Amino acid sequence: MRGVLLLLAVPLFGHDVVTTKVTWTKEVSRLVDRRCATCHNGKTSFPLLDYAAARPWAKAIKEETGNRRMPPWQAVKGFGEFRDDAGLTQEEIELLSDWVEGGAPEGDPQWLLERKPATRKAAPRFGHRWRAETGGKVAAIRPDGFRPGASAQVVAELPDGGIVPLLWIYRFDPNSTRTYQYRVPVDLPAGTAIRVSPAEAGSVTLFRR
Ligand code: HEC
Repeated sequence: MRGVLLLLAVPLFGHDVVTTKVTWTKEVSRLVDRRCATCHNGKTSFPLLDYAAARPWAKAIKEETGNRRMPPWQAVKGFGEFRDDAGLTQEEIELLSDWVEGGAPEGDPQWLLERKPATRKAAPRFGHRWRAETGGKVAAIRPDGFRPGASAQVVAELPDGGIVPLLWIYRFDPNSTRTYQYRVPVDLPAGTAIRVSPAEAGSVTLFRR
């Protein structure tokens, strides 16, 4: 009798109760490698590379990704389509949340993939400004002179009255400012007006290449 009680008791006292099939070794480590490891490698920012390092951060990981504060990206999804979009998909956010809520289990170590060193691609350089007088294809957009913390939508108003969403910045962070490159260049005819609203949030520069 005593033995049975002990057997039942040990798992409860020894571990968090696990209520999810999502594990670190199978799903979460891969997501972290893909989406977080360029920064959370112990050099750029604190490490999240293995279970021992990531587990104490579980609650914070759920919170930061759920609020879309991590990874820092600032462009609201669905408003312009960008290359190297660092924002998590809804599915990825839910996967992390399920993992954390389910007790953040490690899983079977045999599922771990060998880690390739994270490489950061060199940022493409854009030198040619797009100008409304001539029009043409917009390859990228950069927020310039945005007030820290400002949120604003940027749209193109076409001469025929059409509206093209270009960028929606949410809480501009001057420390991680970047140039957003479109997945497919956006063709804007001559005479297109670029509107930032609210206008006092700042301005943008558009690049052809
Ligand atoms: C572009 C770099 C970058 C990427 C990518 C990134 N982070 Fe971060 N993260 C940071 C920085 C910078 C901080 C601030 C702490 C610091 O300075 O080390 C931070 C802080 C955090 C914190 C702590 C917040 C707190 O409570 O203080 C968590 C948790 C976190 N990141 C999770 C993630 C997760 C999960 C991912 C991937 C889905 C991710 N981050 C991707 C740069 C990044």
